Amino acid sequence: MTVLAPTPENIAAAARALRSGRLVAFPTETVYGLGADATNGEAVARIYEAKGRPAFNPLIVHVGDTATARGIGVLTPMAERMAAAFWPGPLTLVLERRPDTGISELVTAGLDTVAIRVPDHPLAQAIIQASGLPLAAPSANRSGHVSATTARHVIDDLGDAVDIVLDGGPTTHGLESTILDVTDHVVRLLRPGAVPAEAVEAITGLPLARVLGSRSAPTAPGQLESHYAPRARLRLAADARPMPGEALLAFGHVDLPADAPAINLSSSGNLLEAAANLFSALRRLDASGATTIAVMPIPETGLGEAINDRLRRAAAPRE
Ligand code: TXA
Ligand code: MG
Repeated sequence: MTVLAPTPENIAAAARALRSGRLVAFPTETVYGLGADATNGEAVARIYEAKGRPAFNPLIVHVGDTATARGIGVLTPMAERMAAAFWPGPLTLVLERRPDTGISELVTAGLDTVAIRVPDHPLAQAIIQASGLPLAAPSANRSGHVSATTARHVIDDLGDAVDIVLDGGPTTHGLESTILDVTDHVVRLLRPGAVPAEAVEAITGLPLARVLGSRSAPTAPGQLESHYAPRARLRLAADARPMPGEALLAFGHVDLPADAPAINLSSSGNLLEAAANLFSALRRLDASGATTIAVMPIPETGLGEAINDRLRRAAAPRE
């Protein structure tokens, strides 16, 4: 890990690192973010690995301006009003995700919505501009720890799991962004944060709907949304030979069946690659029309824990 002062040369170096799939921690006005190229699935998988998250939580995409946000998510009239009032600034908007934007499915953990924010911090803006990328960035702390508000916190918490830390001094708010669901004409508060609810209500003229449970589980509002689950059933602990009518989700060195839809998450058994492919593979196998997806075992180590968490949930009986 390298700690860099925010000089133009260092910002250019950090941007190059991001473009080659590395992790760069940078300050925003709220807390430090652990950034990666949101269009590079393996780079995004590295974020989950670095944070030591045992499950995939959707991540916030950081962009430079509202116009770029419009290309990734659908800004409803209410979303436009929120963007006009608070962007750039410490507000995250959950929007309907547009198809084919290049944003990795791992960023949204398979959801049809995407969380976007336009940060108001010169260094965050500089790294977004220099990289030319939408940046997926959760708070730069290990899972379960408090958010990092100084470069020192990031270094202590993440160590060599992060490639570069841009040191821009302590963050201003020291509190995460407020998250609003604006996919609809009503605004819902998913996470209280640096923009007070009253400031949002002053714009809408209406009381803000609180999503029940968001205070008791403030680190995981994404968990409250109905998570992506394939329509097909999942059969776990399968071998490489699916039964008639099944599709195969393979892992590791195996010959794929010629007579069934099949996708290998990683033929080399690489968990980073498997995580990057997971959600798109499930969607494609689901679209094949198979009634059941047979899933080969995935080791319960590193990112395998988060992959298995998602597969087990998708395999759980539904009503
Ligand atoms: O201030 C912040 O928001 C900081 C800085 C770095 O931007 N970021 C941050 O990210 O707090 P993180 O990953 O620690 O928290 C993001 C939250 C998660 O709880 C996640 O569940 C939620 O945003 N989220 C992301 N996408 C979502 C979606 N599509 N629907 C609902 N919630 C979502
Ligand atoms: Mg966090």
